[in-house]
Amino acid sequence: MTDSPQQRHTVLVEEIRRHDRAYYVEAQPTVSDREYDQLYHELLDLEAAHPQLRTSDSPSQRVGGEPIDGFETVLHAEPMMSLDNTYSQEEVREFVERVQKLLPGESLDWVVEPKADGIAISLRYEEGRFTVGATRGDGVAGDDVTANLRTIRSIPLRLQALGQADAPAVFEARGEVIMTRSGFEKLNQAREAEGESLFANPRNATAGSLKQLDPGLVARRPLDIVLYGSGEVADGPEIDSQLGLFNALGQLGFRTPEHTWHCKTAEEILAAIDELDRVRSGFDYDTDGAVIKLNRYDLRERVGATAKAPRWAMAYKYAPEQAQTRLNDITIQVGRTGTLTPVAELEPVFVDGSTISRATLHNEEEIGRRDIRVGDTVIIEKRGDVIPGVISVVRDLRPTGTEPFDMLAATGSQCPECGGAIHKDEEFVAWRCVNTDCPAQAAQRLEHFAARTALDIDCLGDIVSDKLVERGLAGSPLDLFDLTVEQLGPLNLGTDDEPRMFGEKNATKLVDSVERARTMGLDRWLFALAIPELGRTTAAALANFHKDVAAVARSEILQDVITLDELGEEIVRINPRSRKNKPATEQEKTEREQRYTARVGELREGIARLAKLGFAQVTKENGSRPPDYTTEIGPSVARSVLAWFGSETGRTTLGRLAKLGIDPQGTEPCESGGNEGVFAGKTFVITGTLPTMSRDESKAKIEANGGKTTGSVSKKTDYLLAGEKAGSKLAKAQTLGVHILDEQAFLKLCGE
Ligand code: IVH
Repeated sequence: MTDSPQQRHTVLVEEIRRHDRAYYVEAQPTVSDREYDQLYHELLDLEAAHPQLRTSDSPSQRVGGEPIDGFETVLHAEPMMSLDNTYSQEEVREFVERVQKLLPGESLDWVVEPKADGIAISLRYEEGRFTVGATRGDGVAGDDVTANLRTIRSIPLRLQALGQADAPAVFEARGEVIMTRSGFEKLNQAREAEGESLFANPRNATAGSLKQLDPGLVARRPLDIVLYGSGEVADGPEIDSQLGLFNALGQLGFRTPEHTWHCKTAEEILAAIDELDRVRSGFDYDTDGAVIKLNRYDLRERVGATAKAPRWAMAYKYAPEQAQTRLNDITIQVGRTGTLTPVAELEPVFVDGSTISRATLHNEEEIGRRDIRVGDTVIIEKRGDVIPGVISVVRDLRPTGTEPFDMLAATGSQCPECGGAIHKDEEFVAWRCVNTDCPAQAAQRLEHFAARTALDIDCLGDIVSDKLVERGLAGSPLDLFDLTVEQLGPLNLGTDDEPRMFGEKNATKLVDSVERARTMGLDRWLFALAIPELGRTTAAALANFHKDVAAVARSEILQDVITLDELGEEIVRINPRSRKNKPATEQEKTEREQRYTARVGELREGIARLAKLGFAQVTKENGSRPPDYTTEIGPSVARSVLAWFGSETGRTTLGRLAKLGIDPQGTEPCESGGNEGVFAGKTFVITGTLPTMSRDESKAKIEANGGKTTGSVSKKTDYLLAGEKAGSKLAKAQTLGVHILDEQAFLKLCGE
C-alpha cells in the first residue's frame, strides 16, 4: 500500500531533518547532494499539491517571510549577561582562587570553551518549535531576528530527539551566530565583483547579515551558529552542569563547540587555554579567547552574579595576533570629502586566518611620529573590529637609503586621483584634495549617497560608482535622477577584454530605488549629501529642527550656534578676572567689566532663544559667569553645514533639487512611528553617567520622542536609562523588573 500524502510528508520531513543535522550540525553528511536535492524537491512538489501540509517548521519554510520594515524589540525571559574579560594568566589564577574562596571546602571543576567571535543570540523554542530568535541587544531586550535566523540551516526549526509529546514547554538555547572564514572570503569576493563595499571581518559580516530586513538575502549569507548556554527552560531536560548542558544541546539537535576541556585546577585551565590557542586557527570560524566556566549549576547559584556578568565565569582573551612583514609602498587614498589617507601596501602575510596586504596608516603626522618608511620591516596587528594597523617598525632591519615619508613628495603636491591641488588646514592633521570635481571624491560621494543609512539605493557599490563617474554618466549624486535603465543596462563593469555587463535587472533595481529616494526623509537626505562633518545623528537632529533643505541652508539656528560660540570665545578673551587680562587703569577695568557683563548677557539671551526651541540646554548655571550649555549640533558642524550650503556645490545642489521637484521633509523615525514618537506615554528615569550624552541631551531626546522623565523609580516607570556608576536606582529598577537601557540601546530605540 502506498503512503498517504500526509504520511509521505512526515517521512520526508524527518529524513530531510536528519540529513540537515548530519550535514550542518555534525559535519558528517549521510547522503550525496543529489539524493538530498531529490528528497527536497519531492517535499516541495508534495507541499505544492497539498498546501495544508506546509507547516511553519517544514524544512521548506526556512525563507518564508517578506522583507520587513524594522525589527521588533524582544524582552529576554532571562537577561543575557556578558563576561568579565582578562588578558592575563595571573588574573585567571586569581579568578579561580576567588571562586574557591566563595565556595570553601567544595571541590570545583571547570569547563574551558572557545570564545566564538560572532553575535550573541537567544533561540526560544516552545513545545519544541522554534518561535523567537533575538539578538542580545542591551542584555535585557534585543532585536527579533527570527526570520533571519530561520535561514541558518544548523538551527533546528523543531527540537530533535525528544518526540513531540515530551518536548520541553520552553527551551531557550543561547550561543553565537558566526560566519565561516571560507564563507566570508567568498562573500567578500562576490561583493567586490558586484561593486559593493567589503566587510572588514567575519564578525562584521555576521552583524550586517543579521540586520538585513530581507530574509531572502540572509539565506544567501554563509552563517552558522554554535550554542554554549541556555536561558529560560520549563519542563525541559534536567540540566545541572555545563557538561550536562552540552550533552542536552547536542541531543536536541544543536551545534556545540567541537573542543571543550574539563579541568580541575588553575594550571589545567591555563594548559587548556594554551592548547585552544594552538588549535583554534584550524577552526572554520574566528575565536578571540577562551571562556572558563564553573561546571556545576548549584555552585554557580551560590556565587551569583554582578549587574552585568556572572561571578562563575570569565573570558580570557588572546592577544591580537601580530605579524612581521615588509612595507612595500605607501599609497594615497582619496575619501569622499577629499581627505588623503596614506595606506600601507604590504608584502602579503597570513595573520589569524586571513591574508593581509594593506593596512591603514591614518595620516602623515602619525607616520612621522612612528617614523615609518617605505622599505621598512613592520609589525602589523589584526584587531577585532578594525582594519589591520601598523604597530611598529623593526628598526634593526631598516635598509639603507630609506627616507622619511612626506605627503608633498609622495604625491608630487597633487591629488593622486585628479592631479588637483592639495591643501592642509592649519587645525587639521589631514591633507585634502580641494578639487570638488575630483573623480575619486565623486565616486565615493555616489557610494555614500546610496548607503543603507543614507538613501539606500540598490546596486550602487564602489565599482558601479567608479564606472558611472568614469563614463561621465554621473559626476554628482543628483545626476542619478536622470539615468535610465536603457543607459545603465549595458554599462560595462569589467574591462574591454573581459566585459561584464551591469544588466537590465540590476539597472531596474537601481533606477527604482533612486525614484524611491525622492520621498525619503530630510535626515537621510542631509546625510546623503556628504556635507563634511555631518554624521547620521547630527543630520537627524538638523531634520528635527528644520522644515526642509532650504531651511537648513539659511538656518538661523545654526547661525545662532556659531554666534554663541564666538561670543563664548570673546568672553574668555576679555574676562577681566583672568590674570592675563589684568586691566592697566581703573577706567579700563570698568570698561572691561561692562563689556564682559554685556557679552555674558547676550550669551544668556542667545542660549535662552535656542533653549526655547529645544535646540540648547543649559547644563550648569554659573551665577554671573557664562553658563555651561550644549546644543543639539556643535559649532564646528554648524559652520561646516552653512559653509557647504554657501559654496558653489551647495548652491547648485539646492537649485537642482528644486528643479527635480525633490523637497525632503521630516525624519524617518517620525514617519514610521507617527508624530507622537516611539516613547509616547512612556516614563523614563535617568541615572548614572552616559558615555556620550549629558542628562539634558538624553532628556531632550526622550521628550522629542514623546516620553517624559521623572526623578525616582517606581512601578510606573517604563524605562531606566542607566550609565556608569548607576547606583540605587538601578538596583530598584532591577527588583521592580523595569526595562533597563544603556545609551546604545536607548539611541537605537530613538532610531539613531
Ligand atoms: S557565556 C553568562 N560562552 O562572549 C555567560 N559566551 O564577552 C554568557 N561568547 O556575550 C556568555 N563564546 O557573545 C559564553 N563559549 C562562550 C562564548 C561566549 C562567545 C560571547 C558571548 C558573550 C560574550 C561575552
